[in-house]
Amino acid sequence: MASTAAGTTATSLADLKSAYQRDGWCEPPYRFDDDAVALIRERVLSISRERRPEVVHEKDSGVVRAIHGCHNFDEVCAALVRLPQLVELAEELAGGPVYVYQFKVNLKQAHEGAAWPWHQDFAFWHEEDGMPSPDAVNIAVPLDDVHEGNGPLMAIPGSHRLGLLDLPERAADGAESDWRTHVSADLAYTVNGDRAKALADASGRKVFLGPRGSIQAFHPSIVHSSSNNVSEDGRALLLITYNAVTNSPARPTRPAFLVSRDTTPVESRADERLGLVSY
Ligand code: SIN
Ligand code: MN
Repeated sequence: MASTAAGTTATSLADLKSAYQRDGWCEPPYRFDDDAVALIRERVLSISRERRPEVVHEKDSGVVRAIHGCHNFDEVCAALVRLPQLVELAEELAGGPVYVYQFKVNLKQAHEGAAWPWHQDFAFWHEEDGMPSPDAVNIAVPLDDVHEGNGPLMAIPGSHRLGLLDLPERAADGAESDWRTHVSADLAYTVNGDRAKALADASGRKVFLGPRGSIQAFHPSIVHSSSNNVSEDGRALLLITYNAVTNSPARPTRPAFLVSRDTTPVESRADERLGLVSY
């Protein structure tokens, strides 16, 4: 059985896919080592201090909420999205060759980082960009240890199988919404809070706690949220969205740092600075 550097096998990829199809997420048995996390964090913090359109602030303060599209201008982030272990996982889960659709880091800064209400990512990609189907996958990497207090990501198991929920009426003139409402705490497409509570009461909540450098893959249609960071610890979460090349959107109009126009399949390339270790 073929093994990768991090010790995964063909069997475990198939296992990951069946967990992903059943639950809407999966967690590979490997994570980034401490040096890799330190290098990525250094780049993220440096970018967050720059004045550029890809840097977005919290609504009521000058605190940086997120940085976007960094794989297009930062060489470490560019190397990260090409790592064979991430690309092979994305290809397995999205169902074929993939390109990077979106790259972001939600910084969720200590005390200041604001919530993400219940939502489905595919609502934004379908309604705003014209992505045909959810043949895409989010790969999340926390760059800080995640605990109950610093606003962990949470998801409702199985909710990715329910289709898109609570979509608002489209504007009569077909106009897209302001992209800032796709990256702020006041999201344009949310799942009704009562509905999310009922779904979570019935199916439970998966809370993604764990060490920095761990990896979680989650489905574009899963209902997910995260709360305010009420702790003294930051909770930076790096998210790479890979999309199947056969699933590129028909009419992307949002800024290219939110929706990549380049649909060339990612070519895998190992990078010794970005090491992975098995659990
Ligand atoms: C978060 O950073 O907590 C939210 C991430 C997401 O909604 O994709
Ligand atoms: Mn989301």
